Amino acid sequence: MDYSSILEQVFKESKAYSSVGKIANYIPELSNINPDKFGLYIQTKDNQHFELGDSLEPFSIQSISKVFTLSMAFSLLGENIWKRVGVEPSGSPFNSIVQLEYENGIPRNPFINPGALVITDILLTHLNNPKTDLLLFVRKLAQDDSINFDLNIAQSEKETGHHNASLVHMLKAHGNINNPCEEVLDFYYHQCSIVMNCKQLAQSFSPYASLIEPFDFASVELNKSQVKRINAIMLSSGFYDESGEFAFKVGLPGKSGVGGGIIAFLPHEYSIAVWSPKLNKKGNSVRGMKALELFTTLSGQSIF
Ligand code: DON
Repeated sequence: MDYSSILEQVFKESKAYSSVGKIANYIPELSNINPDKFGLYIQTKDNQHFELGDSLEPFSIQSISKVFTLSMAFSLLGENIWKRVGVEPSGSPFNSIVQLEYENGIPRNPFINPGALVITDILLTHLNNPKTDLLLFVRKLAQDDSINFDLNIAQSEKETGHHNASLVHMLKAHGNINNPCEEVLDFYYHQCSIVMNCKQLAQSFSPYASLIEPFDFASVELNKSQVKRINAIMLSSGFYDESGEFAFKVGLPGKSGVGGGIIAFLPHEYSIAVWSPKLNKKGNSVRGMKALELFTTLSGQSIF
């Protein structure tokens, strides 16, 4: 596969979309990003890599972190985690509170905010140093010890995160949070503030794509069936109420974040990370999604 020439075309054709969308400014610190950044990095099964643009520039991974925390909780508790969070697509915005209320405090899946908050609560209960353990896990996955939280971003979200505070209190009212709400929010804002570049993201999702086996990193061990399940949730719920559209246009499991990053992968073939900060109304990167749609179309490589 001639990924280099495909990427050249992806870069050119996706450029038309670089003026579409808006950066996330509901977390004030995120509005400092240069909206015109664009980076892409592919890691292949035979250990080749290809990159474009700002692929080595770090950005806030935000909701992409929900895959890492889910992996840790699944490794600790096994099937028991599904008593507290479901595996169905929500068809609702990532921070919707309405559905949570009428479904009695059991979030639809671990990638919408209430689901991620329950996972965060599980980690607080079972780990003595959850923040350190999360960083150790992500650093091992990415094979890069420089990865860290951005404390300004975490603080900025803490100061303005009234929506997430409502969600965690609603969960607590339904008996689905065991730790103090403030502690759950503090850990959640830290996980979302992790800063990574496209190369580190592509590398850290190589084990999800089964390019590296077994899945055993910093005491987070997952068997093949567990990896399959996490990947299935990425396919069905990785892009919130745009997950159907992403499967339709791109055809890969993946996960987005409001920092403008998207990670996606084709099991046994490649993992691909893309970053472009301007988002559509559903909170997904406009040019990032277009670039991935072009990539799977031009390469003819998707799970379908
Ligand atoms: O909780 C929030 O709103 C953010 N920290 C994360 C949201 C997010 O990344 C949704 N992704 N598209």
